[in-house]
Amino acid sequence: MIINELSFLRLLSDGEIHSIESISKYFQCTTSEIFIVLKNVSELEINLFEINNKGYWLKDSINWLNSDFVLKNINQHPNFCSLDLMIVDSVDSTNNFLINRLEKNEGLENYKGILVIASELQTKGRGRLGRSWLSGLGQSLTFSLGLYFTLDISKLSGLSLVIGIAIIRVFNSLSINNVNLKWPNDIIFNNSKLGGILIEFRQSNPKRLPFIVIGIGINFKLSKYSRSLIDQDVTDLFTITNKNIDRNLMLSALLSELQNVLIKFEKYGFNYFMEEWINYHAFQGKKISLYLPDKSVIEGTVDGVGHDGSLILITKKGRSFYNIGDISMRLN
Ligand code: BTN
Repeated sequence: MIINELSFLRLLSDGEIHSIESISKYFQCTTSEIFIVLKNVSELEINLFEINNKGYWLKDSINWLNSDFVLKNINQHPNFCSLDLMIVDSVDSTNNFLINRLEKNEGLENYKGILVIASELQTKGRGRLGRSWLSGLGQSLTFSLGLYFTLDISKLSGLSLVIGIAIIRVFNSLSINNVNLKWPNDIIFNNSKLGGILIEFRQSNPKRLPFIVIGIGINFKLSKYSRSLIDQDVTDLFTITNKNIDRNLMLSALLSELQNVLIKFEKYGFNYFMEEWINYHAFQGKKISLYLPDKSVIEGTVDGVGHDGSLILITKKGRSFYNIGDISMRLN
């Protein structure tokens, strides 16, 4: 059997002390191979202890992702013929994985379902505007959905807002309240980032259907070290609720609700969701600064969103619509 860090940690997830001998017997490997794995595990910020020369003990159990559990708890929407869920230990980025898969299109001709990949770890998680997305083992939920979608590219910004609605609805259904959205699609609590959404659209070949990949990252319980690497105010579900929220339960609830909003969005567009989105927007009616990618800054008061999901600001020059940028609160 191949021994790697995650299979090692899975073995230790039973809360028992495991001797080096029993571990090497289980994996049919040498003790020196185990020491290499132990060294790598120490970089994963896991509370693993050596107990009085008896063996190794994992202090906090890891809430591993479990595809059987998730699939059993999903309400599959009848409009999607299937939902193919894949859970992996590690991948560069779940969005990259699906983009590659859908670009190749192998075995997916006329595919009318949703491909989903969730990963315990991402080595190169990506955020909006070329930023990176950081998370450690068991500290967050990182997954992507990919589907062929007959969607005009101009509707994409509206879609990304609608995904935020699905997340807030699921949070509310799990009694995680007072979480808001920050345009375009940050999930925030008290102005600290709890999660993010990265939507990508591709049509690699005009003869093929375009597809979208929806990537979602939600912080569950960030370590101090992970927090120190993130250059903005962040929070996680543990800090907000003081509870360890089950990642599998959250993933199944999200996959159920995401199907609902995708179907409604395809049928009715963003208009159908506009009021609900504005209700969840933390900055509605607030004076903000909007930082544009060219480094210019627009100041104004948020006056809702347009039918395409663009941000409406009342500025000195009047009422204007914006499709890109980062909001920050103005203090004066
Ligand atoms: C953002 O707020 O900038 C968007 C963050 C999106 C992160 C998720 S994690 C799963 C998926 N895979 C990625 O590489 N990114 C998205």
